Parts: sequence; structure tokens; C-alpha cells
Amino acid sequence: MQYGHFDDERREYVITNPRTPWPWINYLGNEDFFSLISNTGGGYSFYKDAKFRRITRYRYNNVPMDSGGKYFYINDGESVWSPGWKPCKTELDSYECRHGMNYTTIKGVKNGIEAEALYFVPLKTWAEVQKLTLRNTTNEVKMLKIFSFVEWALWNAATDMENFQRNFSTGEVEIEDSVLYHKTEYKERRDHYAYYSVNAPIQGFDTDRESFFGLYNGFDEPQTVLEGAPRNSEAHGWSPIASHYVEVNLQPGESKDLVFVLGYVENSPEEKWESKNIINKTKAKATIARFDTAEKVDAALAELRTYWDNLLNVFSIKTNEEKLDRMVNIWNQYQCMITFCFSRSASFFESGIGRGMGFRDSNQDLVGFVHQIPERARERIIDIASTQFADGGCYHQYQPLTKKGNNEIGQGFNDDPMWLIFGTTAYIKESGDFSILDEPVPFDNQDGSEVSLFRHLTVSFDHVVNNLGPHGLPLSGRADWNDCLNLNCFSNDPNESFQTTENKSEGSQAQSLMIAGLFVVYGRDYVELCKTIGNVAEADRAQKHIDDMVEAIKLNGWDGEWFLRAYDYFGNKVGSNENEEGKIFIESNGWCTMAGIGLEEGMVAKALDAVKERLDCEHGIVLNNPAYTKYYIEYGEISSYPPGYKENAGIFCHNNPWIMIGETVQGRGDRAWDYFRKICPSYTENISDLHKVEPYVYAQMIAGKDAFRPGEAKNSWLTGTAAWNYYAITQYILGIRPTYSGLIIDPCISPEWKEFEVTRKFRGATYHIKVKNPNGAMKGVTSIKINGKIIEGNIIPLLAAGDTYAVEVVM
Ligand code: BGC
Repeated sequence: MQYGHFDDERREYVITNPRTPWPWINYLGNEDFFSLISNTGGGYSFYKDAKFRRITRYRYNNVPMDSGGKYFYINDGESVWSPGWKPCKTELDSYECRHGMNYTTIKGVKNGIEAEALYFVPLKTWAEVQKLTLRNTTNEVKMLKIFSFVEWALWNAATDMENFQRNFSTGEVEIEDSVLYHKTEYKERRDHYAYYSVNAPIQGFDTDRESFFGLYNGFDEPQTVLEGAPRNSEAHGWSPIASHYVEVNLQPGESKDLVFVLGYVENSPEEKWESKNIINKTKAKATIARFDTAEKVDAALAELRTYWDNLLNVFSIKTNEEKLDRMVNIWNQYQCMITFCFSRSASFFESGIGRGMGFRDSNQDLVGFVHQIPERARERIIDIASTQFADGGCYHQYQPLTKKGNNEIGQGFNDDPMWLIFGTTAYIKESGDFSILDEPVPFDNQDGSEVSLFRHLTVSFDHVVNNLGPHGLPLSGRADWNDCLNLNCFSNDPNESFQTTENKSEGSQAQSLMIAGLFVVYGRDYVELCKTIGNVAEADRAQKHIDDMVEAIKLNGWDGEWFLRAYDYFGNKVGSNENEEGKIFIESNGWCTMAGIGLEEGMVAKALDAVKERLDCEHGIVLNNPAYTKYYIEYGEISSYPPGYKENAGIFCHNNPWIMIGETVQGRGDRAWDYFRKICPSYTENISDLHKVEPYVYAQMIAGKDAFRPGEAKNSWLTGTAAWNYYAITQYILGIRPTYSGLIIDPCISPEWKEFEVTRKFRGATYHIKVKNPNGAMKGVTSIKINGKIIEGNIIPLLAAGDTYAVEVVM
């Protein structure tokens, strides 16, 4: 069953039934000011950091789900309703939510009144702008009582939900004209406040929550709205909110716009006050003035649209698969940008309080959007590398506001360092900017410790080399990519976290075949980089370590039919046919096949066949099989999950592309494509009631074949799945891959595909690439013509920027 449909022309997903199986959300803002918004107006806003600068409050895991948000209430004399159906839940005559590129519109129709709310964060603006358009489609005059609503968070989202003995006494507001200011803690150490304005005179307001709702009423029935009379309350402590009351008279056929601005201001200590205890409102007023008419709002939205046109024009495709085109051209790229901005911090599955930016996550997210805004990727790489330690180890996470490593989780995830090589080389291949390698970057943010970024890559590489176990394979530390395979923690205490508790290193034999494969893949990238910059000695040195690793994998990492997953603390095999449960895992088979280890000997084909036979199912490839059915203290969190969920045999969509890419190494485009389609959200749109989450973005996990309800997805939006699937489809299946010296054309497709087209902007030039596949091949390019002239090989060399080139490819 479907709850809406794609509108590719406008790059929107149109939800036509508000009762989606789970809140279907969108993200507003892509630089400093951010909001999450659901299809019924739920969600919240923050400035840069979802934990430390929470602007509006949100209650997670609420009953009903998704209560609280940016609401408009309409009392039209006959009914009390909201354009997004919730929170009032008054039946609407029609409802439509359109999620677009960083904007959302929600429209409800009731009693002949159309109410459409547009929400977005204009470019370079520290505010969310909302335009509420009201239209009277009847023949009578309508008198509408409009109430806006937001609830302020007391800035630190964690203490906001916990420290009530303090919180209930700190809230402070100011009211001036039609603007409601939230200035809690501004008097002391904060240099920031928030505000909520409307571009019309107001006939009343409320800033105290209980006065607005009445102590016994929920979001669905605020007392003031039901009575049609605001209380003009001024909050002192308790829970400050902001609600405007505006009376709107509409003649038959008439429509009116109200523009609301929900903003954030920072003032330096000298400019904090206008007079004693009266905040300096200059900056707030300047922002409000930028959006004080509907025309100005529309112009800002048009700018945002153009911004997205430019981002999405860098890479676009035309195939015979409409569902593929809309993912690659629109939604997958959009999701990549969102994961880049938010890492794993704020979604409807991540509270925004828990996790900072992941070291590995952020590096991987980079490859999904580096072609769009390389300058931001550059900045991110430097930020990430600055949290690395001198021995190559890394903080697993950092906080975006301070950009400092997160001590609570610390270090010891031994795959982390290698991802920096991935992120950096992806950036250089895209941009050609080798100068980043000379950039001075500190260790652990310590002044005076700066070395070149290139040196950071060297210590990353050497971190693996210096931490090998008895089988010549990389020691895993706390965990590798799979945060839940904790081979050194042996936790018996439910009150401790698997990721931060004991990490027995003394005598541990816990080694990871995932890191081994990763090391070979990105180690080779490192070697290629060294050669490209003329550092032959370092290239040779590194190559020897890679050769040794390949040998170690073949010798100690092959189980006969597939690659082992790991050795545990005691040196016992994990992911082996010898094991009773968890005989085979996806990660090591993904990485070792991507690395092409044992390709000639048939190991790659065998491993991939084993994956197909044992891990593949209707909804995608599960992580391991058979699922663990009891807790294994020596494996950690992985065995804490019920079978079929999360890292215990769930379909972890993040790692499915590793197998897709592995299949392209083997040249089996049919299988790669089949795997791609299974987890691609636009292809699961018609099973939305099972799948539950948004059909326009990837979810981290789909319940696997051993689960109670296979096919049910969770944790949409903030997942490495976005970047990895984008990377797999564009660079390995469609096969258009940036390198230091040009664009490689190396498709590996379904033999049924007869042709496809790609437009790719690369280093300033535009390439219109037409691939023809007359003989139904899966891989292998037979000829390439650029502007009619045949070239040697399958790399388009760097051509003059500014020009457009026609590239004809025959497979
Ligand atoms: C984390 C990743 C991790 C994955 C597998 C995700 O939730 O963000 O860093 O690799 O889980 O455990």
C-alpha cells in the first residue's frame, strides 16, 4: 500500500494520507540552523548542535508518536483544526504534504478554507521561515482565529528533559510588538536567544504553556484555541512557549499570507543588552525584516530551489528505470547531503542528545556529496583529522559545536583510521586539490602538534600495520565497522555500554577480516596517492604491507567457501562453517571481494556465491547467518539483539553495497543490480505498510529473514547507507568513477539494459555520456569516443574546463 507518490518534476514526495505508518519527515536547513519536520508538522529546531543548542522542545518516543512541533491551530467558528491534521486530528476535507529539497508544505482543507503552511530555512539564515496561506473558497465571509505554536527548549536538550528542579524556575521571555522572545539563561553565560515573529499585528499571545493548553489538555485541544481566546500569558519559569493569536477576515475567494520567523541570534558580550534586562533585538529585527512579505519569502524559496538545481546538476542519469532515476538524481543525493550535515545526531531514531559526529561515519558520508560541494568536504576532512591521535588512533566521535573529540566514547575502534584515507582520496580525486595534503592539521586538537594532512594519512595506514595480531591480521580493538561485534569486552553488567566498557588488549587475539579487506582497498588508494605525488619510497613501503596482508588473508582468513569474519579474543574463528551460529558474515566477504583477494583462484566468486546462498533474502542481504539465538559474552552486543534485527542478522543496508561492488569486481552486473533494487526505497514504495519508513530515503536496517516481521525497516535518514548506495550505483554499477587523472568509464550492469545516459560535471567540464550495450554485456567497454574521436582505454582524460563533451561508450 502507498501513502503518496513521487513528483519528480518538482523533486517532491507528496503524502496524501496523514496516517503514514510512521512519521515521514524532512530536514530544513543545510548549514547552521536546522529543523526536522514530519508530515503532520511535528519536529524541532536547533542551531548547529542538536544537543547543546536545542531551540524548540521535542519528546521522543511519545504517545501518540510524534507529538509536539510547529503547529498552526485554526478556529473557524465551526471547527478547530490544523492544516497537517495533527495535532487536532479533526477530519480534513483534503490533506497534502509535500516534502521537497529542504522545504516542506503542508496543506489542509476544511469548511471551505484552504490552509497551506510552507516551512523552510532560507540560505545563509539563522531562522526557519513559515508562510501560512489562508484561502476562502466559499461564498461567505470567514472570520478565522489563528494560533501559532512552538515550545521552547531550555537550550541543552539533555538537561532540558531531566533537571526540572532547576528548569521550572529559569524560563524568561520578552514580548515586543508581534515578536515573542525566548531569553532563558541569556542574563548569565549565554550569548544567544531565540524568537518567533509574525508579520502582522497580533490580537493576543501566550508564552506560558499551561496557560495556553490548560493543565489537563494535550496538544490536540489547547484551552485557548477551543475557547478562541488567548490568555496573553507571560512565562516566568515553568515551560515557556510562543503562540501568536491573529484574527483573519477573508472575503469570498480572498486569500491572505502570514509570515512567521522562528530565529536564533548570537550577540557578543558588549552588545547583549539594549537596556537593563532588555535584550538587544537588532539582529532579530534585521532577519525579520528580510522576510516580512510573502514576496520576499517566495524569492528566498526560489533561491533555495536554484541552489538545489545546481547541486543536483553535477550528476544526473537517464535510464529506462524511472525508480532508479529518481533515487540517483534526487533523493539519494539529497539524503547524502543530510547525512553529511547531521551525521548520526538528529532524526526520529536518533535523539540528538546521544551521538556526536562519527569519525568513520563522517568520512563515508563525504563520498556521497563531495561532487556537490567539495569545499565543505575539505573543511570536514580537516575537522575530522584534527581529532586523530599521533599514533593514528582516533576519537570515535566528536561534537560539531566544539569540534573536539568525545571523551565519553573515546577511541579504540581500529577501523576508524583507514576511513580518513578513503575520505581524503575521494576528495582529491573529485577536486584535483592536492594542496589539502600540505594543510597543517593538529593531533587531538592540541596547538603546536600540527603536521601535514598527508602525515595523518601515513599514521592512519601505520595504525593498522602497528596493530597486527598473531595471524598477521588487524587487531579489532573495541570494534571494527560493526560497532556491535565487541570481541574484547566480555560484559556481564547490563548497566554498562558495550562500546565504552572494558577493552581487553593484553593477550587478545581478536582480529578482524573486515579491517583486513578495508586495509587492502584503501591501502592501495594510499599507494596510488603516494605514486601520484612522486613519493615512490613510501609507495613501495606501503605496498609491501599490503602484499603481506593479502597473503595473511589467503592463509588465515579463508574458510574454504567464504572469508572468515574474525578471530575472537581466544583465537577462535568467528564466521566460520565450524561455528554453530553466525557461520558467515557480510562485512568480511564484502571487503575481501571488493579488494579482489583471490580473484584468480576463484575465492571472490565462491565467497559471493556463499553470500547469495546463505545471506540473501527477499528484502536484501542479512548481516550474518544463522542468527545468534543466545548471548555470547565473547562476541558482545551483536548477540544481544533478537534474531533478524540490527547487527544480528538484520539487513544492514549500509553494507549491502559492499557486496554489490564485490559483484562488479567479479563482473556480475545482474546480481549487483538485483541487490541494489531490493533495498532501494523507491522500489519498496508499494509495500509501505510493511516497510513503514519513508519511501524516499534509505533506512539503516530492514528486519532480516529470521525476524518476526521480515521487511520492516527502521532508522531512516541518518545512515552510511545513503553514501554507500550512491557510491555503488554511480561509481561501480553505472561505473563513472573519478580518478586523479580523469573519469573512468567502467559500467557493470544488468545484461537487460540496452543503454543509459549520464551527465557528469567534473573538474569544471561537463560530460554527456551515452552508454550503449547492444550485445547485452554485463561488463567491459569496447570503445569510447569523445566528440566523435576514439580514445585509448577507458579513462576520459582531464579536458578543458568550461566546455561540454559528448562521450559515446559501447560495451
Ligand atoms: C553506526 C556505524 C556502524 C554501524 C554498524 C551505525 O549505527 O553509525 O558507525 O558502523 O552502526 O554497527
